Amino acid sequence: MKLADYKATLSFSNGSPSVEMPVYHGSIGPDVIDIRKLYAQTDMFTYDPGFLSTASCQSAITYIDGDKGELLYRGYPIEQLATKCDYLDTCYLLLNGELPSESQRTDFHQLVTKHTMVNEQMQFFLRGFRRDAHPMAVLTGLVGALSAFYHDSTDINNPHHREIAAIRLIAKMPTLVAMAYKYGIGQPYMYPRNDLSYAGNFLRMMFGTPCEDYKVNPVLERALDRIFILHADHEQNASTSTVRLCGSSGTNPFAAIAAGVACLWGPSHGGANEACLNMLEEIQASGGVAKVGEFMEKVKDKNSGVKLMGFGHRVYKNYDPRAKLMQETCNEVLAELGLENDPLFALAKKLEKIALEDDYFVQRKLYPNVDFYSGIVQRAIGIPVSLFTGIFALARTVGWIAQLNEMLADPEYKIG
Ligand code: ACO
Repeated sequence: MKLADYKATLSFSNGSPSVEMPVYHGSIGPDVIDIRKLYAQTDMFTYDPGFLSTASCQSAITYIDGDKGELLYRGYPIEQLATKCDYLDTCYLLLNGELPSESQRTDFHQLVTKHTMVNEQMQFFLRGFRRDAHPMAVLTGLVGALSAFYHDSTDINNPHHREIAAIRLIAKMPTLVAMAYKYGIGQPYMYPRNDLSYAGNFLRMMFGTPCEDYKVNPVLERALDRIFILHADHEQNASTSTVRLCGSSGTNPFAAIAAGVACLWGPSHGGANEACLNMLEEIQASGGVAKVGEFMEKVKDKNSGVKLMGFGHRVYKNYDPRAKLMQETCNEVLAELGLENDPLFALAKKLEKIALEDDYFVQRKLYPNVDFYSGIVQRAIGIPVSLFTGIFALARTVGWIAQLNEMLADPEYKIG
């Protein structure tokens, strides 16, 4: 941030003296008023539940222009990353600020691959859960428990510990998510296979069994990799702010990320893709496309409490750029699996068409968000609905850890 050549003046109609506050330019986006001394100078706080006008930190990681529908990771448009890079390249970018060179890429891929196994003891910890536990309950526990298994990367004041914790989290999340799934269905866990890609390895750990070879379908592998890229970071959202706030106390990275997983679980945030698919299934069960009009009337009726899940966003007041990419992937996956006539996809398209033309949605600038199509893709791949948010957590782990490490390296960081 750079100090601007103008200041903001706050004046009061009760005769109290006015106060001047510095203004800063960010490298992109709106200027910010520095209110840090406000309380000391005026004995007053600002009031801003939900941080509608408050930038809680400085960050150079992700930028969203909600009006334009633009998303940048370290300055790179999401469209470019989703079409030209893979998820691990994106992880490298988010963590280090630049895309890797060829040799950095090879080293980084090897480093992550080397850390994909989890301590064997973790499976006994997992056994304490009920088989029908929600995967997010299991994951919150498993991620928090990493701090009990990896003592040599829990000191946040040690840059080497921070770096190795980041790699461990990125590498082990797919293993943990797949373990949570296998546990729930009573199948044996699959150990990671290091000759597969990040997404390919995850598919095998999810759907392979020890009895036979598992062949990774490249279309599904690419689709999953894209889901991971699109969910990798999204600046200061609820779960990222949770991770920063939790980490600001100096707690270890595994504990801070576990807090992020817990926050993500909520239906207004990461739980929306699960809620969206449940909504589509309910409409389908009640009569399908024929019932769409009736459902939309309920959505518009404030007293019904019904929302069109997968629509609307706190920041995007335009089409979520990730939703466009996800729709493309959705077409590819359904074609590959011969599911072009999937009734839920037809239903989703119909809902989208109505909503984009309906005054209620147009006036409120409500557009599809990434969750609207990602649920259909995941369901087609064979991922159960209850695991959708777990997949989101897996992908977002890199964003959380990059943001946490950025905060810890910031000389202005304080406990929140
Ligand atoms: N369906 C129907 N009406 C909606 C929806 C929706 N999905 N979203 C917002 N509205 C309406 C609100 O009722 C409100 O109407 P009003 O002005 O008449 O009172 C208006 O649009 C503004 O909505 P707010 O709730 O004030 O918007 P906010 O920015 O606080 O909420 C949120 C954003 C929580 C995402 C909301 O749009 C929502 O609940 N959407 C559905 C859940 C969802 O898809 N969440 C995923 C978010 S993306 C993510 O986490 C990856």
